[in-house]
Amino acid sequence: MIGIRWVALACASMWIGAAGSTAAAADVALAAASTIITEQALAPTHYTDWPRIRSRAKVDPHLDARVHDIVAHMSLAQKIGQMTQAEIKSITPDQVRQFQIGSVLNGGGSWPQGNKHAGVADWLALADRYYDASMAVDSPVKVPVIWGTDAVHGDSNVFGATLFPHNIGLGAAHDPELIRQIGAATARAVRATGVDWAFAPTLAVAQNARWGRTYESFSNDGALVRTYARAYVDGLQGDFGDANVMATAKHFIGDGATANGTDQGDARVSRLDMINVHGAGYYGALEAGVLSVMASYNSWDDVADGVDYGKMSGATALLTGALKGKMGFPGFVVSDWNAIGQLPGCSNASCPQAINAGIDMVMVPDDWRAFIANTLGQVQDGEIPITRIDDAVSRIVRAKLAMGAFGKRPSQRAGAGDVRLLQDRALARRAVRESLVLLKNNHDVLPLKRGSKLLVVGKSADSLANQVGGWSLTWQGTDNGNADFPNATSVLAGIRAADGAANVTYRATTDGVDLKTFDAIIAVIGETPYAETMGDIIPSATLRHSDRHPEDLAALKAVAASGKPVVTVFLSGRPLYVNDLLNLSDAFVAAWLPGTEGDGIADLLFADAAGGRAFNFTGTLAMPWPGLPCADAGGRDKAANWLFARGYGLHYPSHHELPPLPAHAGVGICASTSTLPIFHTLAQSPFALYLGAGSRGHDVHAIGSDLNSVIEWPAVHPVVSLQTVQVNTQQDAKSVTWHGPARFFAQSPQPANLMPLVAAHAALQFDVVIGTPARSPVTVYMGCGDGCVRPLDVTRMFAAYGAGKRHAVSLPLRCFVTSGVDLAHVDVPFGVLATAPFSAAFANVRIVAEGGNGASEACPETAGR
Ligand code: BGC
Ligand code: BGC
Repeated sequence: MIGIRWVALACASMWIGAAGSTAAAADVALAAASTIITEQALAPTHYTDWPRIRSRAKVDPHLDARVHDIVAHMSLAQKIGQMTQAEIKSITPDQVRQFQIGSVLNGGGSWPQGNKHAGVADWLALADRYYDASMAVDSPVKVPVIWGTDAVHGDSNVFGATLFPHNIGLGAAHDPELIRQIGAATARAVRATGVDWAFAPTLAVAQNARWGRTYESFSNDGALVRTYARAYVDGLQGDFGDANVMATAKHFIGDGATANGTDQGDARVSRLDMINVHGAGYYGALEAGVLSVMASYNSWDDVADGVDYGKMSGATALLTGALKGKMGFPGFVVSDWNAIGQLPGCSNASCPQAINAGIDMVMVPDDWRAFIANTLGQVQDGEIPITRIDDAVSRIVRAKLAMGAFGKRPSQRAGAGDVRLLQDRALARRAVRESLVLLKNNHDVLPLKRGSKLLVVGKSADSLANQVGGWSLTWQGTDNGNADFPNATSVLAGIRAADGAANVTYRATTDGVDLKTFDAIIAVIGETPYAETMGDIIPSATLRHSDRHPEDLAALKAVAASGKPVVTVFLSGRPLYVNDLLNLSDAFVAAWLPGTEGDGIADLLFADAAGGRAFNFTGTLAMPWPGLPCADAGGRDKAANWLFARGYGLHYPSHHELPPLPAHAGVGICASTSTLPIFHTLAQSPFALYLGAGSRGHDVHAIGSDLNSVIEWPAVHPVVSLQTVQVNTQQDAKSVTWHGPARFFAQSPQPANLMPLVAAHAALQFDVVIGTPARSPVTVYMGCGDGCVRPLDVTRMFAAYGAGKRHAVSLPLRCFVTSGVDLAHVDVPFGVLATAPFSAAFANVRIVAEGGNGASEACPETAGR
């Protein structure tokens, strides 16, 4: 097949000049010297317009005639049904028959019968029921329903399936043939469950690691994404044999280009950048004959040319003009989850604009019934031309014919129901090995000798959930435990197997452990799971990992003090600022989100790993690694931001010493932003929400991201309770009830200097709905370290609000500043202290510049405490 294994020469030579540090440049050169290359494979393009793409898919001359014939016999209702994709939680097989539905999907964390542990047989049975229903429609032409799923790193919603490294790790492997094999293995697994269609690959060319979907992107290099796209689609779709599924190139276009890396945000790039960088993956996917493309949530404002394309699901010039027209895409475009509802004038259930712009199938998970009725009306009124409907349906039917959906029930296809096809553990383990990037290896502490006495620490050593990340059984990857991944090996288990279980001690904390008795210490630390927007790092937060995960810094500090060699294995969905962690480690491995086969990590840590075979590191960064807490990670041409350029990666023996790095301890917040978000549905990083008993002290409880449970604190004799409610939008507020003296507050691990915001006339703002009015004083306060508090008495202000109505509160920052105490070191920017009886819901807490209405606005009284 593609068969070339090229590592990094082209990008290396591109990056040597740009490398910020000599260390990086030297090792890039090292990587280049040891590898073979096809320069051409990674060459950037210089198109001046959207290119015409020639697909290598087989052309069937009879296809168009069949499509035409089928569509000619369909009623308008059947056509609109074909254009509708509903979620399995919201549609029964009988409704698929009744409404002649074209497609169903299961969203992230949706399974047959809502059973997370549903087996292959359950998936297949439901697939058969949907298929049978679609073949029982009351129409002379029967068009099979197709089922789509987010199989984005293996068949990732299915219990027991092998989960491959997320795309960011695969990018570091620089191995298109590996990608093709992963695509093929994923297709076999998906097919075994009776599902026809994978919403993969993601072809985002992520430019900013703040984006919560960075790990779904292979690289910030369009050329690599293009080559991978071709290989991935080829693996998934193949020649549409029984073991193949339809692929989706997503999210078209510019999802990785948004300003500040904001998910679903606005791409502000030039047309040439969009064509040559962000478009690159689509050329590869189209070359391989991809049959579907998913339109992106983001918008695109081409500031240079003064063209604002708006949200992609309504962008005629791109969907119809560029993709279908200039590139010649013959397949169909599906919209993203309720994305049509984001277009001006549309709702989730109605959007003629999107269809007219070129959306062929609408992902309308819940409101499909109303959508069908509305769309019917819009065609009858002439708002949507029937020619557009016929084109959309023809594209869908053509794809279904091309993929061989007609004719066989899901359970009649080869491999259907075969549990073994869910797994390809050897391939995944190899992918893990290829994905790892060795960032530091001072005094060549790696590889370790087998049989060494090892201490393993860190929260991710024995956490399959942290290892697999988001889009794993559940949407966010949260609410999973080790038992949810029965066919998996944790990093710890891999180390035990390689080193001999008797030689390995695992401790969650090092309290009471005599560190001197070990030869070396391995710390497995990193990010915890997230998906999409939930993973965004907002512009004011740093990229410093230990700002969000101080427990990892603490774990490293505890072991580094021993003087024993410390090997850090860092699991993350993106490159992050980790200078402090690098300084505490002798060796440091970027392991990304490796998936279920954690033993691929041990394969590289030991000189002579399992089976007597020694492996070496081959992975190199496919995105640059930040060396500043506020580096705009992932962006190009910002050499000074980077500690390691794209292409960096050490090998054994590394003979390379990374010097101590600056730790930028004073940087707690990025940029002089005009808004500092504190809490908006979730606590906004670097802040977390807490409940505390009394007016001070460390007896506090961190409120996680769980939106469902009611929290009582302390567990015995609670003085305060909290639950998630709605004030403005769904689940956006915390309702707090005081049973005694207690506080509710937001805190960051590092203090922020708010004085620039004071100078910018900023105000602390939030929405409040009083539940039970207070009969004792209520204060809103800011905290600046132990014993340092700036309280404002809001008792009268809140009393004036009465119960049950939403009020917007604005407290000028100036009011918190009193003689002797400034706001240069604020760790608690928002706290509420009260006692029973009192309850109130708080939403959208933030500090806004120019929100203080000038110097004249009155301050509430400064409270005593
Ligand atoms: C995501 C898509 C995904 C879809 C279905 C959306 O929120 O952006 O990538 O395919 O949901 O789960
Ligand atoms: C679904 C995901 C989807 C997301 C979009 C979730 O409820 O499970 O599949 O991507 O909503 O917001």
